[in-house]
Amino acid sequence: MISFENVTFTYTDEEHNVLEDISVEIPQGQFVCVLGANGSGKSTFSKLINALLLPDSGTVMVDGLETSNSENTFAIRSRAGSVFQNPDDQIVASLVENDVAFGPENLGIPNPELRQRVENALAQVGLTGFEKRETTALSGGQKQRVAIAGVLAMEPQILIFDEASAMLDVRGRRGLMRVCKELNAQGMTVVMITHYMEEAAEADRVLVLREGSIVLDGTPEEVLTQDAVLRELNLDVPFATHLSRLLQDRGVDIPTYVDQDSLKEALWHWYSTT
Ligand SMILES: Nc1ncnc2c1ncn2[C@@H]1O[C@H](COP(=O)(O)OP(=O)(O)OP(=O)(O)O)[C@@H](O)[C@H]1O
Ligand SMILES: [Mg+2]
Repeated sequence: MISFENVTFTYTDEEHNVLEDISVEIPQGQFVCVLGANGSGKSTFSKLINALLLPDSGTVMVDGLETSNSENTFAIRSRAGSVFQNPDDQIVASLVENDVAFGPENLGIPNPELRQRVENALAQVGLTGFEKRETTALSGGQKQRVAIAGVLAMEPQILIFDEASAMLDVRGRRGLMRVCKELNAQGMTVVMITHYMEEAAEADRVLVLREGSIVLDGTPEEVLTQDAVLRELNLDVPFATHLSRLLQDRGVDIPTYVDQDSLKEALWHWYSTT
């Protein structure tokens, strides 16, 4: 669904390459989290996916379409939708239903399909009944869900989240993650940039960027347990990993986990069999 081949990119006023020879393939339906320190190139990477930026060398393909060919731009942007950090920057209308309709309306989708798309998108993010609500009166988490609904109403195949949960509280973050997991379960390809290890632990795959290069690429279990590399990038191992190791040190016979639910289950099993 997404393919980077030897992609190099630099902004005009930067001396060094912001992305350096990136090659990566993301198959349809994969849930990928991207981690990395500030300035490592995560947002740049995501903007290359939907042709907001074009590579200086190498190729980026989305669903078989090369982003550098301007004839593909419209098709690529309707396949890959982005949700950003600040919900207030993404809301354009004062009523929820108008905001969600904005994107597909610009794609030229007529009624009654437009209404149907708005209804479906709101249902997918758990905001059925919010159609006539004022967008300014919503919580941060609700606004992010409206922003996602606006992207979903364009019926994309790829959802890109660039630290979309960064301004939310724990509950808002969990709600957003639940929505992402459900969409992914329905076949959506998800690229999620995050600083939260708990989110990365739930992905199918984790990519770690350092100064524009991919330095780790694997399952959450493979990547999130690499303390030394993560610490060097100012990232922490997930709480469940840390706790697994503390328990192992105290003689509890369990593997090292990255997500809390698996750890809880293993602990329960250990407890009830010893
Ligand atoms: N519009 C721009 N013009 C010039 N340089 C930029 C621009 N956007 C980003 N950069 C530079 O490119 C590099 C990578 O930035 P990018 O925003 O991709 O990093 P990031 O990993 O998303 O960081 P953060 O965690 O802070 O969001 C940085 O050195 C940054 O200063
Ligand atoms: Mg960024």
